[in-house]
Amino acid sequence: MFSFLFFASFGLVAAENGLDGWLRYAPLPSADSYHDGIPSKIVALNDTKISPVYTAGQELQQGISGIFGKELDVQYDDCTSFSSIVVGTVEEYSNGGGETDDIPELEADGFYLSVDGDSVKILGQNERGALYGAFEYLSLLAQGNTSEFSYASNPSAPIRWINQWDNLVSGGTHGSVERGYGGPSIFYKDGYIKEDQTRAAQYARLLASIGVNAVVVNNVNANASFLTEANMDGLKRIADVFRPYGVQLGLSLFFASPKDLGGLDTFDPLDESVVEWWHDVTDKLYRRIPDMAGYLVKANSEGQPGPFTYNRTLADAANLFAKTVKPYGGVCMFRAFVYDHTTLNQTLDWKADRANAAVEFFKELDGQFMDNVVVQIKYGPIDFQVREPVSPLFANLLETNTAIELQITQEYLGQQAHVVYLPPLWKTILDFDLRVEGQPSLTREIVSGARFKRPLGGYAGVANVGTNTTWLGSHLAMSNLYAYGRLAWDPTHSSERLVQDWTRLTFGLDSSVVDTITQLSLESWPAYENYTGNLGIQTLTDILFGHYGPNPASQDGNPWGQWTRADNDSIGMDRTVWNGTGFAGQYPAEVAAMYEDIETTPDDLLLWFHHVPYTQRLKSGKTVIQHFYDAHYAGSATAQTFVSLWESLKGKIDDQRYEEQLFRLKYQAGHSLVWRDAVNGFYHSLSGIADEKGRVGNYSWRIEAENMTLEGYEPYSVHPPSMASETRAIVTSSNSTQGTASAVLSVKPGTYNLAVNYFDLAIGRSKWEVFLNEESVGSWEGDSEYVLGHAPSFYLDGTSATRITFENVEVGNGDLLKIVGVPDGEEPAPLDYVSLLPVGIVD
Ligand code: GCU
Repeated sequence: MFSFLFFASFGLVAAENGLDGWLRYAPLPSADSYHDGIPSKIVALNDTKISPVYTAGQELQQGISGIFGKELDVQYDDCTSFSSIVVGTVEEYSNGGGETDDIPELEADGFYLSVDGDSVKILGQNERGALYGAFEYLSLLAQGNTSEFSYASNPSAPIRWINQWDNLVSGGTHGSVERGYGGPSIFYKDGYIKEDQTRAAQYARLLASIGVNAVVVNNVNANASFLTEANMDGLKRIADVFRPYGVQLGLSLFFASPKDLGGLDTFDPLDESVVEWWHDVTDKLYRRIPDMAGYLVKANSEGQPGPFTYNRTLADAANLFAKTVKPYGGVCMFRAFVYDHTTLNQTLDWKADRANAAVEFFKELDGQFMDNVVVQIKYGPIDFQVREPVSPLFANLLETNTAIELQITQEYLGQQAHVVYLPPLWKTILDFDLRVEGQPSLTREIVSGARFKRPLGGYAGVANVGTNTTWLGSHLAMSNLYAYGRLAWDPTHSSERLVQDWTRLTFGLDSSVVDTITQLSLESWPAYENYTGNLGIQTLTDILFGHYGPNPASQDGNPWGQWTRADNDSIGMDRTVWNGTGFAGQYPAEVAAMYEDIETTPDDLLLWFHHVPYTQRLKSGKTVIQHFYDAHYAGSATAQTFVSLWESLKGKIDDQRYEEQLFRLKYQAGHSLVWRDAVNGFYHSLSGIADEKGRVGNYSWRIEAENMTLEGYEPYSVHPPSMASETRAIVTSSNSTQGTASAVLSVKPGTYNLAVNYFDLAIGRSKWEVFLNEESVGSWEGDSEYVLGHAPSFYLDGTSATRITFENVEVGNGDLLKIVGVPDGEEPAPLDYVSLLPVGIVD
């Protein structure tokens, strides 16, 4: 429908820190040439500063100034004047004498956008819709689309929320946002709600531009302290800066608040005093925030209190909150992520399965929830893994509103230290046909409310941005936030189109930049799946600690239920009805039958549904174990290419973002090798089956640190063993004295890339320097806990393991390689191995 203009040459833009995200309004090349076609003024049909229509006027003024260098006045009346951009609601427009006959019927938050010569109309069904239309118009202009058109756009679903898992009190090394990798909370500091909510306003601006209409501002693992009078005043401050952007505030509740904060002796959801207490709190909140979106509740899950204490149901709990917010038009989002991690026992019970929990808890409650309750369901039955089947709960709640919970913050998916563009993963879920009652039942049609004719439904995205100017910690990660909003608005958008739009807005219109970032993004999730966890076995991260680096052993033998049931001969969860946990039977008949049968289960979910020998043949003809080996090699090889793809952008984007992302991609390339070797090494030793291609366990370019001549360093057995090459590393013998590891090289003289694998613990900043014949090749610090933002580790393991590479080093036979490590307190400058790689080889 649209034509984009492409430009041959581009001036270099000034350094950018990412704060404006995709709303940079960068000048179009030859911007002046457009001036004649641009309307000469903006007419905003509401001059109240808290109105999204007023915001739209300001935004249009700023955008057109940035994109075209043309300064337009904003006026607040006369919507019929010529050569103007009119923005307002359909009603305001009609009241002002505007002709509305041509405007199609709009749904809540929808808008009509028409560009006809120098007359532009942006009319919303409501004020928020008008602002969305203004952002869409600016997005088209910023991408060089100045054509004429008119169309209406309506959201796929009314709920398009963001969840922030922010804590009031800071804690831990990675700030006060649970599973946040972009720094501490933008809202809170030192236990208080900040006076200055500038970042919250900037966040609301970004979110409004992609159609997000509410933000739950605190962690689902909530506490009662948000409900004190002082903190309710603080929440009002946040809501006040959100409002001009049409973003409503939502709040996560701690179920036991009536007891913890209210001094009652119970939090029974059916107890009169408890009901009254919640009504009172709700009234106090709405007095301050009349447009509050509602509540989000996590109950009886992972240690959170809930109604089970009083033998009440989850519906009793949800309805309690729904009733309190109902008079105000509020919504209660009630999480389906309910399971009991204390009673699952893998060893004793072949049929135990955490994946079964949601349907077991919620199915029988269908029809019992009030119509302003929305059950918020994670996309898969476990927990945001690299691949999961769609949660069967979507097919089991026919008389209940549902929303899908997606995770923008990459908890199990590389924590923004790895690039993983998520829409292709999300689409495997949204486009899945659950075949409820034998009828087409796409997940996206269920959550929109269309399939079961529900009044409410939609999307909740866990974003967890922080104070870092990049918001999420990494520039490229922002495409996930952008795409989330766009997909919630219209889930039929293609992943490719979304990343292209985002790239043009974020990095400019150069088609080689757009193509490169698109390619890298689209290859990133398949690559990550390849080097982390294949065939539906889940992301093999360390699930007991940070959920970041590899640790396949940590999946099993604990009650968290993310089991693989891997032993010496076989692997996978038997979730069949005939012999397993019965999970497959939670789907409607056609889907259940597909997953029940190993022949019809797609390979990419084989180990999710079936327990098979490592020698089981896949549809590709490979065995499971050989597929593991090959996929890990292929995935990490792809990650290496991301570095050179990015390097091709040098000079085509600003230096600051170029350098910052390059640093991360180099880290990812190195860490993908850590993943490859850790996972392959683990299954190699568990199964005893050799890699047909002879790679696993044979690393001919490596010099193991423990085999070098050591002074002030000593060997160290790493646990779990496969997290280090040949299971061992070296650490300095004392916390205060440097160590030296040296070796005389026996190599063919030539140019090599010299890679050093080491462990960077989150304890201090050890220092290393590498020498050849006493001449320094380079030095570095163990500072990743300050620069990468992923969950840190205090041990030598798959999370702290990392690599630095010095390129194009001239090496002669007999040269003396020496690495000096200086510990920093308890961080003992650990080293794993050195790889001397002929240029072109990575290992
Ligand atoms: C995951 C995550 C937790 C979070 C939980 C939830 O388990 O690791 O940090 O609290 O999901 O979604 O409630």
